[in-house]
Amino acid sequence: MPAHVSILPSGHDFSIDGPDSILEGALHAGVPLNYGCSGGNCGLCKARLVSGQVRKTRHHDYVLTEAEKSQGYVLMCSNAAVTDVEIEADVAGGVHDIPLQQIAARVKSITALNPDMALLHLQTPRTNRLRFLAGQSVMLRLGGAVSGVLPIASCPCDDRNLLFHVPRRPGNVFLDHLFSRLASNDIVDIEGPQGEFILHEKSSRPLCFIAFDTGFAPVKSLIEHALSLDASEAIFFYWIGSDERSIYLPNIGRAWADALDNFHYTELAAGYDLASLTEKSGEMLKTMLQGIAEGCHEIRNGDIYIAGQEQAVRAAAQFFVGMGVSNVRVFATGW
Ligand code: FES
Repeated sequence: MPAHVSILPSGHDFSIDGPDSILEGALHAGVPLNYGCSGGNCGLCKARLVSGQVRKTRHHDYVLTEAEKSQGYVLMCSNAAVTDVEIEADVAGGVHDIPLQQIAARVKSITALNPDMALLHLQTPRTNRLRFLAGQSVMLRLGGAVSGVLPIASCPCDDRNLLFHVPRRPGNVFLDHLFSRLASNDIVDIEGPQGEFILHEKSSRPLCFIAFDTGFAPVKSLIEHALSLDASEAIFFYWIGSDERSIYLPNIGRAWADALDNFHYTELAAGYDLASLTEKSGEMLKTMLQGIAEGCHEIRNGDIYIAGQEQAVRAAAQFFVGMGVSNVRVFATGW
């Protein structure tokens, strides 16, 4: 029987089935509880059990005082719910609640997706995972000398395995190093998270995501988070590529659309470079966005998230605000 967990005072709730700790269950459900090491060392996941029973699932080095124990405090990373429970715990309300972290991660794999794109999988140490919000980015340092910022293309529900989409960019020292020279087991220093392109969870409006080329990376993280929250009545995802090869992981969006009734996925190959729009291609992009708006009336009433190349992102944000969408419901990140 799954145990039901209610978090006070935020009102988040979720179910845990199986041996997951309360913290793991929360992360899988997209609930950003306060925590640090995930391994019983730091005490940051300390929370007060208000009702129900929990079971200690592992030894922890962090020592709770007798007074804390008598008040019902437990470590959420080291306890599982035995019955339905109510727990008083801190939840991150925004990017400012997430501390800056520095972690030495290891390259688990780097896989070519096509001649111009690679998928980088970094794994953190088991006891030093990255706490972040979906949609955020990190600084990656390679060998101390070369560094750059990339959006995380996975969701906070797996804080140990971090994915990144790496485009081939001859002449860009950072991306060139990532794409051509990084190998399994290399160490990459992570610093972050950073960025405010996050999901505004309190909204129950339809969600519309528009990714231009590698804008899919933060959008994938946001969509995975939105799916784990199961909050929105409908999700629309448009992946606009400069060309067909720029839509480098089409099976992910197709699988979401196949599995979920309320998920709608569209791929569009522009046929021009979205990184440097000309007057003519800018007009062509507007026509494409017009077609999206006419085909999807929910956009007018939804929250719109746009990511990718700066010029294209700015043009799309201006377009949607120009057609009457409030600018407080248009969230954009460009590079
Ligand atoms: S997260 Fe550090 S002790 Fe639980």
